[in-house]
Amino acid sequence: MAFSLFNKNKKALLERCRDDYATKMRLKYAPYYHAMEAQSGTTVRLNGRDMIMLSSNDYLGFSFHPKVIEAARAAVTVWGTSTTGARPSNGSRTFHLELEEALAAFLGREACHVHSAGYLSVMSSVAGFAQKGDLILADKNLHSCLWDGIRLSHATVERFSHNNPDDLRQVLETADPQVAKMLVIEGVYSMEGHVARLPELVELGHQYDCFTVLDDAHGFGVLGRQGRGTVDHFNLNDKIDLVCGSLSKSLASTGGFVAGTKDTIEYLRTHSKQTIFSAALAPSQAAAARAALELMQTEPQHLEKLWVNTRRYIAMLKSLGLDTWDTATPAVPIVLGSREMAYRFWSALLEKGVFTVMSIAPAVPPGKDLIRTAVSAMHSAEELDRIGEAMAYAVKRM
Ligand SMILES: Cc1ncc(COP(=O)(O)O)c(C=O)c1O
Repeated sequence: MAFSLFNKNKKALLERCRDDYATKMRLKYAPYYHAMEAQSGTTVRLNGRDMIMLSSNDYLGFSFHPKVIEAARAAVTVWGTSTTGARPSNGSRTFHLELEEALAAFLGREACHVHSAGYLSVMSSVAGFAQKGDLILADKNLHSCLWDGIRLSHATVERFSHNNPDDLRQVLETADPQVAKMLVIEGVYSMEGHVARLPELVELGHQYDCFTVLDDAHGFGVLGRQGRGTVDHFNLNDKIDLVCGSLSKSLASTGGFVAGTKDTIEYLRTHSKQTIFSAALAPSQAAAARAALELMQTEPQHLEKLWVNTRRYIAMLKSLGLDTWDTATPAVPIVLGSREMAYRFWSALLEKGVFTVMSIAPAVPPGKDLIRTAVSAMHSAEELDRIGEAMAYAVKRM
């Protein structure tokens, strides 16, 4: 009996995989999972053709910086490829502590913990602290890792309109004052490129006694002094309890970080399952992030170039009449409004040798189907010209 039930369940699962509509569409139109054959800086080779990468999160262009490459190479030579263990057991090394100390000092925080993925860091920043019975106030447009953290916490969640302090206030006004509250926001929203209205949101969080968590995956390296991020940009360091983010964007590595007080970080190390039961950040990736962090402080020209490129790129898109969803950062969406239009635009850019990423509902709100692009400090003026020509071509094809 138990055996036949198992068989039936397995069949249902296998059929779910075989018949899945979203997977069939993805395989038919093939907009995702393109495996590039080669890369050099912003040039990638796909199906034998060189293309300009316009969707990477390598904002400062450090993934091909000689010092970052050399640091990663040296770390592998000294430490091997992996610590093959979790941090609380056999996986901790002094290079983890050095990176954590450097990040904490840079962000003006007492302590920091690094994970092997930004997803883990950000998810644990919520799931590691909120509990059943707590109330989480969440911006509607949060990244998937924050929603996963919220779900795992078992706390009650109230969503407020994207980046809207008035709506947050209304939700807070009806909340039970006795309940522990967590405010969850992003510094720069990854799809939209919007900078959080931090002063107003944080002031409300403060007024209603919220523990505030900010995911700055896309603000770190981009905003603030030397790229210290959105919190520094608004000079609100003492008002945010936890800042988390990714090492896979401006820091040109993989992994993530959570920074806060000593108490919060030690609590995370005791209670967060993502922190306790996942293998430590690899030596090469820690070294790459450490070298990139150093470059942020010693080579300001990359951040300057990033903003020169960003201003020029957004102005070019606007001159073509494209909707950039009021982005204010190098994360630049081009909103097309339907999946068909987004696909056509994306295909036209690909035809012209510009690689971008299509993002459609439900990953974005209905009617906001878009092409997600991102500028890097590594893009040359000549590449931006070629991108402009490809955009003009794609506009004509619509
Ligand atoms: C806002 C945001 N948070 C967290 C992450 C997760 O970071 P990682 O890709 O390093 O796991 C991402 C990645 O896209 C992101 O955009």
